[in-house]
Amino acid sequence: MTLSALALVLFAAPVHLAAQTPDASDIAEGARLFRQKGNCQSCHGWAGDGRKIDGRCYGLKQADLRQAGQRMSDPPATLQNREIEYIADFMFAKIIDKGPMNREKCVEYWGQETEACGEFPK
Ligand code: HEC
Repeated sequence: MTLSALALVLFAAPVHLAAQTPDASDIAEGARLFRQKGNCQSCHGWAGDGRKIDGRCYGLKQADLRQAGQRMSDPPATLQNREIEYIADFMFAKIIDKGPMNREKCVEYWGQETEACGEFPK
């Protein structure tokens, strides 16, 4: 699936999400897919805010790439529709309109104090 198709699903999702609230296991599955199979974190960071544990990825918009005669790489794996829904559930629950990451949210995200949370003041 292409990223633009994914964007369509994500942007179309609020209607669907309003109808049924995802449960915690759907959100956790989405977080796992975001970090692993979907590999979204490689560009967007684990928190979806562009911050990465080992520095920023590209810091570019698609328009910048087009100007340089480049395109975004293809996703590492094809996601099933159900997996895309889990990722959307995760993004709406944890990323979109949730404000900047902080210590408390970081610990909740990882389920415990972890190295990634060290950068946020207690
Ligand atoms: C190769 C790097 C890369 C990967 C991997 C990647 N993205 Fe992106 N994504 C981008 C870039 C760059 C943009 C910004 C495009 C633009 O604005 O022109 C973007 C934009 C988005 C947007 C729109 C954000 C907005 O505010 O408009 C969403 C949503 C998104 N990505 C979700 C995902 C998800 C979910 C995954 C994993 C399945 C993913 N991306 C994987 C690079 C990536």
